[in-house]
Formats: sequence, C-alpha cells, structure tokens
Amino acid sequence: MTDLIAPITATHPLDRLSEAETTRAVELVKASERFGGRMRFMSVDLGEPDKATVIGFGEGDSIDRCAAVVLFDGADGSTHEITVSITNGVATRWDRRTDVQPALVVDEFIESEAAIKADAGFHAAMAKRGITDMDLVTIDAWTAGNYGDPIESDHRIIRALVWVHDRPGDNHYARPIDGLMVIADLTDMTVLRIDDERVLPVPDESSEWASGHASETVRTDIKPLEIIQPEGPSFTVDGDRLRWQKWDLRVGWTSREGLVINTVTYTDGDDVRPVLYRASLAEMTVPYGDPSSTQARKNAFDVGEYGLGMLANSLALGCDCLGEIHYLDAHFTTADGTVVAIPQAICIHEEDVGISWKHTNVRHDQSEVRRLRRLVVSFIATVGNYEYGIYWHFYQDGRIENEIKLTGMLSTAALDTGEDTAYGTKLGEHVYGPNHQHFFCTRLDMAVDGFANSVVEVDTVAAPPEENPYGNAFRGQATVLSTEAQAKRRIDPNVARYWKVISNERTNRMGTPTGYKLMAGENCLPFATEDSSIRARAGYMWNHLWVTPFAPDERHPAGDYPNQSAGGEGLPAWTAQDRNVENTDLVVWYTMGHNHLPSLEDWPVMPVASIGFTLKPTGFFDASPAMDLPPSNHCH
Ligand code: NI
Repeated sequence: MTDLIAPITATHPLDRLSEAETTRAVELVKASERFGGRMRFMSVDLGEPDKATVIGFGEGDSIDRCAAVVLFDGADGSTHEITVSITNGVATRWDRRTDVQPALVVDEFIESEAAIKADAGFHAAMAKRGITDMDLVTIDAWTAGNYGDPIESDHRIIRALVWVHDRPGDNHYARPIDGLMVIADLTDMTVLRIDDERVLPVPDESSEWASGHASETVRTDIKPLEIIQPEGPSFTVDGDRLRWQKWDLRVGWTSREGLVINTVTYTDGDDVRPVLYRASLAEMTVPYGDPSSTQARKNAFDVGEYGLGMLANSLALGCDCLGEIHYLDAHFTTADGTVVAIPQAICIHEEDVGISWKHTNVRHDQSEVRRLRRLVVSFIATVGNYEYGIYWHFYQDGRIENEIKLTGMLSTAALDTGEDTAYGTKLGEHVYGPNHQHFFCTRLDMAVDGFANSVVEVDTVAAPPEENPYGNAFRGQATVLSTEAQAKRRIDPNVARYWKVISNERTNRMGTPTGYKLMAGENCLPFATEDSSIRARAGYMWNHLWVTPFAPDERHPAGDYPNQSAGGEGLPAWTAQDRNVENTDLVVWYTMGHNHLPSLEDWPVMPVASIGFTLKPTGFFDASPAMDLPPSNHCH
C-alpha cells in the first residue's frame, strides 16, 4: 500500500476529507489483499483526530490524515471497519464483524427496487390489484427493524412498501398499495418473501405538487422582497473555517450525520472563549403508531440506518437560502467506491431576525434600538418521503440555536371503501397518513470555558412558607447532575426546567461559574410500550437529557449499527456504568420529539414544522454581549 502518495491539502486536522483524499482512501483499501470482490463501500469518512491533537495543533504542524471506512462483504455478510492513513498509505486497523448490519446505501435502494420489480411473485401480487406496468410502481426501502423473525438475523434485508403512479412523474404517495410488504435480501438482491395480507382498492384520487403536474394557479399579489448586501456578507470562509464577528467555528461533515459543527469559540474582548467542541444531529428515529401490519414496523433511524450526509440535497437545484450565500460542496462514495459530488450541500448565510434590544425613555426623549443578526449554517436531506433541514444559528448575543425543519410527503397507507382508522388521518377516500413521531438526538460535546464542565438542573419553585409571607416568592433550585444515572432527565414545563452546562474553572464577575443553559423547545415522549421492539432499539428516546463523560467511540445514541439490531446499545448501555459526569470533559445529549397526528393541511406536501432548542449564555458574560451592536442607519 505504501507506493501510493497522498494528495494532502488539509491545513487543519478537522478539515473535511477532500474528494482526492476520499478517492485515495478507496484506492488504498482496494489495494489491500483483504479486499474482496463482493465488498461494498458503505461509508468513507474523515477518521477524526483525537482532541489532544486538535487542541494542540499549531499552524504548519504535520497532519496525519485518516479515513474511517466501512465495507460490507456480500460474500459472507461480514462488515469491515477500517482506519486508513492517507498520509502514510497504510491501513492501521481492519476489523471484521459478523454481528452487525451497516446502514443502507443508495445503490441498495436502486438495486433492490429493480430486483423486486423483476420478481415473478411480485408481478403476481401486483396483478391481483390490477397493476401490470412496473414502470409506474415505486418502492420505498424501509429498514427492517428487529421483531424476532429469523429472517432478520439470517439476512441483510429491507421491508419494502409499494406505491403506484397513475402517470409517470405524478405524486405516487397518493396511491399506496397497502396490505403487502416485500422482504428483500440486499446481499443477493432477491425477494425472500411477500407478506400479502390484504387486497385494498388502488386509490384513484390525484394530489399533485410538482410543476407540470400540479395546478398552475399561483398567487399574483406578491411584490418583490430583495435581500441586498452591497458590501457582501459579514462572514469569512477559509477552507472549512468560518468566522463571523466574534464567532469562530469549523464546518465538518460525515456520511451519517451530514453537517457537523466543530470547535466553536466566541471572542470576548481579547479572550477567545470555547463553548462547544463538536455538535451534530447524532440520531433520529421515526416510530409509527399504527397497529396495521404494514405500518407497525415503520421505525426508520434516518441518521443511523440511512445516513443524512449521503442523502443531502444539492442546494444548487433550488432556492433554499436568501442573501449573500456561501456554499460548501460535499461528496459521498457509491458502493464501488466512486466519489460522487454533492455541489452546494452546505449553505452559509446571515439573516436579519428582528430586534436585539430596545428601550424608550419618554421623559428624556431617548430611544435606542438595535437589530439582531444571526449566522446560519444549514443543509437539507431527503430521506425517502421526508425532508429534514438542519439549521445551526449563531446570534450576536451569544446564543446558539439548533432548528430542524420537517417537510416533504407523508408516507401514506390505504383503506378499504368506507373504512376509517383511529391511527391516522384520512386524506382521501382510500388514503390516510398514519400517526407517527420524529425523535432527534443532538450530541453536544461541550467545552464551556474549557473541558472541565458540569451540568446543573434548574427548576423554579415557590418559596417555602417561612420565607414567603406574601405568597408570591419563587426562586431557582439548582441540582448538580453528578452521575450518568442522575443525569437521565426529562423536560418539565411546570417548573420551567432548564439545564445549565457550567465551567468548573472560570467564574463571572459575581463569582459564579460561567455557563450556557440548554432551553428546550417543543418536546414529547414516545408512546410505544415498554415491551415494544423500538423501546429496546431506540432507548435514547425515553429521556430528553443524557450526560456522559467524553469517550471518543461513543458517538451514536442508538449504537453504531442500529440497522436490524435487537437494541440495547448506545446511551442506555453506556450510562449503565453510571460514570461520573461532574467537573469533567462531558457530552450532553438532547432528545426532542415532534408528535405527528397528520392533518389535511399536511397534504400533498407538508408545510414546514419546526423543532429545536437553544444554548443561551447564562452568566457566561459579565453583562449583555449585545451592547456593542451598531445602531441601524435605515430607520426613519
Ligand atoms: Ni411527520
């Protein structure tokens, strides 16, 4: 392997892998005698350097560029985890596993759809429903989950669900072919079994959204609204480093998580103060709440089973952001290791978001107002029927906000004539949108004024009677969450609960620890039962807050390989150790749930639903950090 020279252009250890580096990593793996003819590249990502290397890095220091590669071997069903040094041209780790199923890759969607459409049994099942033109059939490759069926442990499979177009390019989600599931083997690309339980009428009502299909009626009473930045944006992009006013951060990317936010600091006077070391959407799960046999097994892990990074949109094709935009490209590898570019995958721009602060003193004829801006770093992924927009907002007042926008299509199901269901909402005579939830788990590797941090839960409580002569008094009640078991927490709006990550090394001018509080937005809990399959497989969903001591291999809250797993891995397993999380380098995991009982307005394309949380400075600064915002020169 050593004769291949690496094309290293990185200037920082956390720089995303270039296409050339990814190509070289693929070449190095393929050149190994361990590489087999039936091996597929499931992912090729930056082998992230350890923290000490990143923190100790000085400009011009040598960088060992590594790739983390996952292969699946169709010859024997094994999974291979490889670390390859691109710098040195050698594999430093090559582990073979037989107990896991990696995430699906795009080639498997395409090949399995073709295989199902070529299957005689599938043709027969479709013919029973009057469908003979396979070009009109669309198949969504739902991950199979784990329900104790031996087929799940003996094969790499999907449970495919079927829709049909009335004419090419129309909205197939209006025509679910429900009542059957196709279980296909992804190793041999064969149909293993068709669970054909119920023949339902093919819905005949169209519901279009795409231009050329939908009604051409558009609103005509809208005048132009232009965002003009005549001197360009206020941010600078230098490779993957992004600087905007006092914020300084690095953009990262993985095939699994998509956008990663690295090494966030805020310059306070002359002081460059760390806030976050690494943040990403680490897992998400969409459990369906409908008992029908086709819907009950819909439990997609959109990060760990599908890979948001591999499914990122090229924003070159739309108009997703406004203003002076800087795009960063991304790329992924196909099963044979070919590098495929995703032009303009990451959008960077700034937005005006109303006022930051204002005060009017009528007596002295004083009025001051300052407008607020935020820096937005975002990407959008399409996972089958749904779109997820992941937005990181950095504000001039020190806040960091994570917003997730949900849009796209409902994954529909079908009803018999005259039938109704309590487990979904009817969208037409024979079509309904099943009840489901979306859970997002964001991993926040915190670094509030350094790595020595603790997490404090603050509830607001009424004062005890002896301190409360007028009955009005209330105060914050702070509890340090010292161990992993103590730090498994849920939101409680009744006590205005928040969690604060504090520094154990730095205090503010009042002598209290500097900190950032995590403020919950919309949230809920799963409704699946204790003995459900998803309870074991996505255990992270049952707490909104988890805190763990930093461990480099603890990255994925439902385990490294949730696909077909029986569960128990990730956060529930790690935190069973009940390790100390006080005054240490810690990771905060915040889980938020969006409950979705569909409505007619969600159809045919769901208007954005938004969910998120805020990290807000709380005693981090000695006073408002927004006092130096300049007055606007555009108000009269
Ligand atoms: Ni939904």
